[in-house]
Amino acid sequence: ALYAVIPAGGSGTRLWPASRTARPKFLLPLPGPLSMLQATVERLLPLVPPANMLIVTGASHADAVAAQVPEIPEGNIIVEPQARGTGPAIGLAAALFARRDPDAIMGSFAADHHVADPIAFRQAIRAAAEAAREGYLVTVGIKPTYPETGYGYIRCGEILFHREGLAVHAVEEFKEKPDLATAERYVASGQYQWNASMFVWRAQTLLDAMRRLLPDVYELLTEIAAAWDRPDRAETMERLWAQLPEVTIDHGIMEHADNVAVVPASFGWTDLGDWHSLAELLASEKDDNVALGAEHIATDTRGTLVFGDGRVIATLGVEDLVIVDTDDVLLVCHRSRAQDVRRIVERLRGQG
Ligand code: GDD
Ligand code: MG
Repeated sequence: ALYAVIPAGGSGTRLWPASRTARPKFLLPLPGPLSMLQATVERLLPLVPPANMLIVTGASHADAVAAQVPEIPEGNIIVEPQARGTGPAIGLAAALFARRDPDAIMGSFAADHHVADPIAFRQAIRAAAEAAREGYLVTVGIKPTYPETGYGYIRCGEILFHREGLAVHAVEEFKEKPDLATAERYVASGQYQWNASMFVWRAQTLLDAMRRLLPDVYELLTEIAAAWDRPDRAETMERLWAQLPEVTIDHGIMEHADNVAVVPASFGWTDLGDWHSLAELLASEKDDNVALGAEHIATDTRGTLVFGDGRVIATLGVEDLVIVDTDDVLLVCHRSRAQDVRRIVERLRGQG
């Protein structure tokens, strides 16, 4: 059986005000009824038994996480004393899995993505797991549709082999979050895939890469993992985690490793990163308005998403709006500006 870690941290500022520091994106019922975290666990269960699944999250979310996924043993929900990015969160899981099973093949899966076709998703992960046995750091690639600058880009090289009916390619370049001009060039070339933030590798392969590329992180995580079954686990975690640098797996490992492979796949992947992408996903052909958590009385209204907390929301003679109604904040924004919602959050944080 496979092992898996789900890093669940950060707060998704573009889904403000529904997503807040206290209520991050992955805990929200988007698109519903399950939260994105619950859906992530559910689509992994046929591949990964709950005992083999770790969730790494912050102290302020640990209770909510445990309540949402009762099938995961409580000891498998790891609380990080501070957010240090995905590098340490995923690296710690690798160190713990490798201790338990030196041959463990593990995946890492972001907690906040939507997958329309879970069967095709699992087929891609099985293909990636086969490639992982050959010693590769395997990513899953999604065909890009526009020059998104918030994603990682993967340049596909030669086909290494086929598994599960899918081609596994060598990776010639991994570039995390390029600028717009570069992203435009990548998309136009047709040679790049988006990184779906799903990784599969032998736990030991990742640890070997970490020892080379992030030796300080490797040393600290090895020490923490060694203390895991000792009475001083909590104290060791507290003391050493604070010494970790903040680093993502993408910048810290994937951009620099030379044994990266990619499985290009297609399973209806959406990073529900902002209100516009959510509205795109949920709008139907007969009604392009979308209502979540609220009754929407729509008169002469088109292309409008309302997200509420029980109150009725009525609109008249408007188009392409996002309306988000929460206890203490009401957001009204044009759909074309959904990416800029993070600017409101930055402004509020600057004042606070
Ligand atoms: N435990 C923990 N601690 N989890 C974290 C932390 C942290 O400090 N930071 C992020 N995460 C979790 C998030 O909750 C999410 O589930 C996952 O790790 C990915 O982090 P994001 O912060 O959402 O990354 P991103 O969207 O900027 O970029 C990644 O995803 C893109 C696709 O959506 C990269 O992997 C890109 O290359 C990729 O294209
Ligand atoms: Mg993300």
